[in-house]
Amino acid sequence: MQSTLLNAIQQRYACHEFSAGQSVSADELAWLQESGCLAPSAFGLEPWRFITVTDAAGKSAIARACFDQPTATTAAAFIVIVALVDSLNPDSDYVRERFEAEARGLNCAHIYEAYRAHYRADTIAAWAQGQCNFAAAHMLLQATHMGLGSCPIGGFSSGALTKTLAIPPGELPALVIALGHCSYAAPKRLRKPLA
Ligand SMILES: Cc1cc2nc3c(=O)[nH]c(=O)nc-3n(C[C@H](O)[C@H](O)[C@H](O)COP(=O)(O)O)c2cc1C
Repeated sequence: MQSTLLNAIQQRYACHEFSAGQSVSADELAWLQESGCLAPSAFGLEPWRFITVTDAAGKSAIARACFDQPTATTAAAFIVIVALVDSLNPDSDYVRERFEAEARGLNCAHIYEAYRAHYRADTIAAWAQGQCNFAAAHMLLQATHMGLGSCPIGGFSSGALTKTLAIPPGELPALVIALGHCSYAAPKRLRKPLA
């Protein structure tokens, strides 16, 4: 039905406080990750990986890295989206594998040519983090569709998150998605009018 996705888009809002005692199931986390991995990415590079955190100690550490914002301290679960940066070097095995898959068995020389012309080592980290936002948008809408509350969190210490999650050099935390059941009713959506 044409209106179904728009319903989820209209119903999604950033939840700033989640209810205590309501968890997010392993199945729900798996569906959210699947919705993220089906997001579009430039050159089909999917420059992300997802880390789920549901244990109490892990959640506290993530919340601390998010400066103990209420949306983080009350979350039932997190999905941290990590940007793959060094993997995006045009000469990496990662890029070769992605391009071979993207070309579906055909010659991928033209994709390489376009990517080499596009690639810039000094801006690739920001570019990879930008790609991660597409995966995040998919997850946020999927969460709404499943009746979960969510909040994208960009307010975190990159260093603290990297340390907590043992994110290796060459990768960067892009966004934290806080998940749970929202403790309050949906607020009125505020948006500037369409021009
Ligand atoms: C990239 C990004 C980073 C955000 N970071 C935070 C954050 O650190 N803490 C927070 O409470 N909300 C955060 N938000 C949620 C926004 O505040 C929220 O989406 C915005 O106010 C619009 O409200 P709505 O999502 O309910 O429509 C972030 C949203 C985005 C897209």
